[in-house]
Amino acid sequence: MGKILITGALGQIGSELMITLRKQHGSDNVVVAGHVKAPSEEVLKAGPFETLDATDMEAVVAVVKKHNITTIYHMASILSGTGEKNPQKAWHVNMGGLYNVLEAGRMFNLSLFVPSSIAAFGPTSPMDHTPQDTIQRPTSMYGVTKVAGELLCDYYFLKWGVDVRGLRYPGLISNLTLPGGGTTDYAVEIYYEAIKQKTYSCFLREDTYLDMMYMPDAIEGSIQLMEADPSKLIHRNAFNISAMSFTPKMIAAAIQKYIPDFTITYNIDPVRQGIADSWPNSFDDSAARKEWGWNPKYNLDNMTKDMLDTLSKKLK
Ligand code: SER
Repeated sequence: MGKILITGALGQIGSELMITLRKQHGSDNVVVAGHVKAPSEEVLKAGPFETLDATDMEAVVAVVKKHNITTIYHMASILSGTGEKNPQKAWHVNMGGLYNVLEAGRMFNLSLFVPSSIAAFGPTSPMDHTPQDTIQRPTSMYGVTKVAGELLCDYYFLKWGVDVRGLRYPGLISNLTLPGGGTTDYAVEIYYEAIKQKTYSCFLREDTYLDMMYMPDAIEGSIQLMEADPSKLIHRNAFNISAMSFTPKMIAAAIQKYIPDFTITYNIDPVRQGIADSWPNSFDDSAARKEWGWNPKYNLDNMTKDMLDTLSKKLK
């Protein structure tokens, strides 16, 4: 395998993906790129870093050529809440970046990982056990870019044979890097506040079910899909993957098992509540299980234990 490029590498997913991929392939074989945040000293010391805006086609091509890249994990994206504040920018970043990466894939015969999301569904999709193939009419700009992206990825495979694969991530919970501007971010913030303040003010209603996953499962699933035997892949792109489905009230109860005096209050953000209400409660991920062996390890309880253990050391 040649060199790997991660775009959006300083974000919530990229910053953990880089650690795992560098362990597997060697630090020098994984080039990490971003431009929104400045890289830390630790990132700069750990291996090759490029300042790269994925919406700049010439810059994407230059990085691919400079490092002889053969695989890109394209993680640069604007999330749902931020996307609603500036839909024009969300379209520009999410579609412009993806188009450039797909074009680089076509020109240089690259393998590509392109994430989709729970946001690719909308209010007319079946809400429970949302099937792999079903109605997708999202109402957020983020969701629109995700469905358009799924179609564009399929197109590049069908038309030019570009090996582009991807998953529909549910809300992702992690303890290394905070997410930014997503609707599912409450499920990360709540653990930080449970440790720091023993109370959390939640921007979603207590009964809002959403599909969720712990980051180690998301990272393992992404790499597993990229390594899967292509002859077994019927879908290839935009696989539903699921690990757990819960409400704010349920995650608060899971935390109270370990921090009994933790309390939750509610201060609803109508924009993000509207987005959450339009998304699935839970996914049917049987295609991912059958086609490439998806099998997550974390549920709400063992994730909560690990989050609280890790964050109490980190925030000491
Ligand atoms: N976590 C994302 C968001 O909330 C969903 O993909 O926007």
